[in-house]
Amino acid sequence: MLDGGTTLSKFLIDTLDRNPSPVQASGLSALLIDVAASIKTISAQLTKGALGGNYGSATTINTHGEEQKKLDIATNDIFLQHCEWDGLLAGMVSEEMEDVYAIPPAYPRGEYLLAFDPLDGSSNIDINGVVGSIFSVLRVPAGLKAGAAAIDSAFLRPGYEQVAAGYAVYGPSTMLVISVGNGTHGFTLDREVGNFVLTHSDIRIPEDTGEFAINASNERFWEPPVRRYVQECKDGRSGCRERDFNMRWIASMVAEVHRILMRGGVFMYPRDFKTPAMQGRLRLLYEASPMSFLVEQAGGMSTTGRERILDVQPRALHERVPVILGSKNEVERIARYHADYDRGEDKPYTSPLFNKRSLFLPEAPV
Ligand code: AHG
Ligand code: MN
Ligand code: MN
Repeated sequence: MLDGGTTLSKFLIDTLDRNPSPVQASGLSALLIDVAASIKTISAQLTKGALGGNYGSATTINTHGEEQKKLDIATNDIFLQHCEWDGLLAGMVSEEMEDVYAIPPAYPRGEYLLAFDPLDGSSNIDINGVVGSIFSVLRVPAGLKAGAAAIDSAFLRPGYEQVAAGYAVYGPSTMLVISVGNGTHGFTLDREVGNFVLTHSDIRIPEDTGEFAINASNERFWEPPVRRYVQECKDGRSGCRERDFNMRWIASMVAEVHRILMRGGVFMYPRDFKTPAMQGRLRLLYEASPMSFLVEQAGGMSTTGRERILDVQPRALHERVPVILGSKNEVERIARYHADYDRGEDKPYTSPLFNKRSLFLPEAPV
């Protein structure tokens, strides 16, 4: 052990380079160290707050039609600059870019693909609230020639194929939480020295919880199984669950998942009918998929309600997906409620929106 603890680079070299498995080709540790460098730079930028000159909205909208914050663009550029040069990537995908980012011709191309959300929860920026970054690493598919530029289809692979995933949470301290497939591990940034130090080894999510997180303002658009679960939690001690639950909503998936990794809980951004054309709110490739990898590696569960998220076959770079993740026993219960509903065996509902089952059938257009 080094003085000051196990640094991220020592952890990665020990895990990936000294004991390589067939899926962990060389270079992954170096790539993750470049990602960590992006995160340190973003952390330093965010810490400046309004003094950094990057507060407020940009004049642009992103590929999802959402208003971009200046920091959405600045943090995206930080990821690109730190990760494009090292010869380890064949392409990048980001929430803030419509198309695959091609590695500039000045740099060699490598055998990995990086997908990221450079700033998650960006509506929290102007209120000095918690935000994060999320990333996912795949190896280039066998069909892509060595040194070739990645195209969309290279990224359209189910999450179980990820070789690494992680997030940074920029709170009172900056933490990096990663998995390379051998558990989920948390590192805290030592700001004076500039190192990420292993502080949370092999994180385990408790299987039971009394805490759930959902944007309850969307309740009228939820499907019946989600309404059933949340109503039963709200009924508390006097209802069928016979115990009280607590609710949280930070509006940053990173902050919610971090809380769940630390002390358990359930996070839901489920399928809803607010915008019928959308499957869900969160993006599969760089939000749902990496977070599901981390949650499963920590003993939790992650589902759309009907399918394990890591098994979902992506069809588009910016595809959205319903997300229900966290403590295993609660997520299993919610998945069971979806199955009950789909079989027509759920409890009756009194809501005028849902008492006619024909209104929101599961096979309704999405
Ligand atoms: P982003 O800032 O990258 O667009 O992501 C925000 C996401 C997610 O992190 C969070 O859980 C959710 O949007 C918040 O949605 P509401 O605005 O509906 O609360
Ligand atoms: Mn996000
Ligand atoms: Mn974002």
